[in-house]
Amino acid sequence: MRPGLLSLDPNSLPNADLAVSWIVRVRCAAALSEPVTTLAIIHNTTGIAETTAPNRDSQIEVLAGFDDYAHADSFAAAAADFEIESTSVQTVSSEDWAQTHTSTVTFGGATLHLEVGTAFGHGAHPTTALALAALAHLRVTPASSTLLDVGCGTGVLSIAAAVQGFTATGCDVDPEAVAIATRNAQRNRVAATVSFVAASPTQLATPQWIRGSTGFSVIVANTLIGVHESEAAAIQALASPTATLIISGLLNEHVSRARAAYPSFELTSTTTRDQWVLLQGARR
Ligand SMILES: C[S@@+](CC[C@H](N)C(=O)[O-])C[C@H]1O[C@@H](n2cnc3c(N)ncnc32)[C@H](O)[C@@H]1O
Repeated sequence: MRPGLLSLDPNSLPNADLAVSWIVRVRCAAALSEPVTTLAIIHNTTGIAETTAPNRDSQIEVLAGFDDYAHADSFAAAAADFEIESTSVQTVSSEDWAQTHTSTVTFGGATLHLEVGTAFGHGAHPTTALALAALAHLRVTPASSTLLDVGCGTGVLSIAAAVQGFTATGCDVDPEAVAIATRNAQRNRVAATVSFVAASPTQLATPQWIRGSTGFSVIVANTLIGVHESEAAAIQALASPTATLIISGLLNEHVSRARAAYPSFELTSTTTRDQWVLLQGARR
């Protein structure tokens, strides 16, 4: 078995009762930012932060948070395959990580201020940027004013939608992300029109939740292909008969699988950034 890079003495690991995130600190050429971020996602990162400006050697620092040591270790080992200059691991209490790692996102004329912490969604990742661009083209009308953000992470998409005038609901299976997103809604003064819930679409798509509702007019889901496939039936059940669906988080090779997962939508519009693809469409 290949040894990991972050071989710490397991006896030195912090008390498991403490809420601890594992942070891998990677210094790499600015041009490697994107592959390193993708690699962290593949290794189940719970949050990524990046120093905003390259230093004079065009090096940046990427911090990737992980819930457990095994994922942090396998990410560090995989990062070494990119010939990344150095990696180290440290443990940080979730609270410190959350308070330290913040981000700003420009959306339309507004600046969104985000606590990022251990959640995904600092705003600059191509999958998020594609979704923000798609949201910016939507019009809010009385008949189309409710939005569901599947896999809300920091809440960046829900908060942008609320700034635009939507009444937004964000859901995520990570309760810590939901707590961060809730604080972000308050921080950006949109708490009156955004709510977050720690649940998957499958958990939301219960008769109790949808009873008396015609479904969401817009659903945006920026998440991994496997999550699209497992949640697509519930996402379609939560959509109104005239809904718009926006799905992001896809690589080129995922596009046909994603279309097959959402048979009740005609996903005709495609936008791309780097190797990432966003699909958008209306009910058939
Ligand atoms: C790529 S992040 C997107 C974050 C943010 N919406 C953005 O656009 O930057 C995907 C999110 O999906 C969440 N997730 C994973 N499986 C999920 C599921 N079955 N239901 C809801 N959220 C899920 C993850 O916890 C993560 O926060």
